Amino acid sequence: MKTNLSRREFLKRSSVAGGSAWLAAGAAGSLLAEVSGEAATPALLGGPKAHAKGWPAWPAWDPADDAAVTQVLHSRTWSRSKLVKEFEEKWAALLGAKYCLAVVNGTNALSASFMVMDLNPGDEVICAPYTFSASLLGVLYKGAMPVFADIDPLTYQMDPAKVEEKITPRTKAILPVHICGYATDMERIMEIARKHKLQVVEDVCQAHLTAINGKNLGTFGTTGCFSFQTSKVMPIGEGGAILTDDAALYDKVYSYHNYGYKTNVAPGSYENIAAFILGNKIRMAEYQAAIGLCQMRKLEEQTRIRNENAAYLTPKLAAIPGITPVKPYPGVTRLSYYMYPFIYNEAEFNGLSRADFVKALSAEGVPASPGYPKYPIYTQEFIHEMFKTEVYKKFYTSQELDWEAYKARNHCPGLLKTFDTSVWLSSTGMLLGSKADMDDVVRAVEKIHKNSARLRSA
Ligand SMILES: Cc1ncc(COP(=O)(O)O)c(C=O)c1O
Repeated sequence: MKTNLSRREFLKRSSVAGGSAWLAAGAAGSLLAEVSGEAATPALLGGPKAHAKGWPAWPAWDPADDAAVTQVLHSRTWSRSKLVKEFEEKWAALLGAKYCLAVVNGTNALSASFMVMDLNPGDEVICAPYTFSASLLGVLYKGAMPVFADIDPLTYQMDPAKVEEKITPRTKAILPVHICGYATDMERIMEIARKHKLQVVEDVCQAHLTAINGKNLGTFGTTGCFSFQTSKVMPIGEGGAILTDDAALYDKVYSYHNYGYKTNVAPGSYENIAAFILGNKIRMAEYQAAIGLCQMRKLEEQTRIRNENAAYLTPKLAAIPGITPVKPYPGVTRLSYYMYPFIYNEAEFNGLSRADFVKALSAEGVPASPGYPKYPIYTQEFIHEMFKTEVYKKFYTSQELDWEAYKARNHCPGLLKTFDTSVWLSSTGMLLGSKADMDDVVRAVEKIHKNSARLRSA
């Protein structure tokens, strides 16, 4: 037996999607068979909840960390200073990037990236459609045209083959959104970007520490943009970060985030405060960084536990007819598990609608939702509004700005299918539970499956 595995071979074998490990059917077997009578009755039909005791609270906060925050308050240094710098250095080191700039939130991390990039009116950016407005505001601020490449409904991620189809001489950038904490196939996206000399802004707002062959998301693209909003696996309340390996871009985005001043102007200083680029003010505060530093210390261990629990849960859920866990690409070595998403097939549940399934699952004590509502981003009015502005009218033809034609051109059938079939388990707290808690999740779904006809007519 070969014992000295190469790094690549080791990573391949230990990948989340690593062949048999992901959906090992042998690991499955009905847990419901162990219970009978009332315990096997769905909560919606009067039975007990499959999981009654609640989940680890999210956002997590350790009272032992209170002092780190009160210290900042008492120091009276609240605006950007040493702690924000420390946060940036540690986030860059943890993720494996050369530079990190901390900002107020993920929306502004993304917008700032586009604002400082080589992107102009008349240019096109190929965007992932399974997201919401925050991902692409910067594209529109710059007068560029969002063009959507459909997702693969089995992985939820932007399909690189569809990206290639959408490239034109006007394409300047690609915006993959690593949705639900899963990973876009960044190795292929970067190959395409290199071939066509495109910039890449990664929306990593949901995928902290998700990695492909050991390389963290957010370190593949020109920039990687993170959110530390309350629900995320790295919660600060509000907060964001931009990673990059490009020194010039880092300098520019640093200036942008501090009113457009030169990088040597200290926040709060009145020296040399002449703006030299059109900037903004999106600085992270010291108390945000203090919270972030406390959360960061726990992130790797929490992520390890979520991955371990997900590896236990996935084959058991996959063995239930009508449940298909979302598939990570081969080579994904770690997932953030911001969500635990799966595809629901109502035909296998006696026609029980997805909405009723989610209701029944929530009643069992499992935190479930249908995910984003069915408002495809390329049909949302905020894009149409921009098409009515003088900038857009100047740089695009009336055919390009025809709203009906735009929606038809950007139609994404994979996305629409996903809107109808997705179930997201809110897993930040849930996947920090015990193995017995994971069994409760499986029992809840099995109960609903077994009683789906009754639930449907209830
Ligand atoms: C995919 C995605 N992009 C962008 C954002 C924006 O981040 P924030 O809420 O920190 O502004 C979020 C988070 O809400 C997100 O989930």
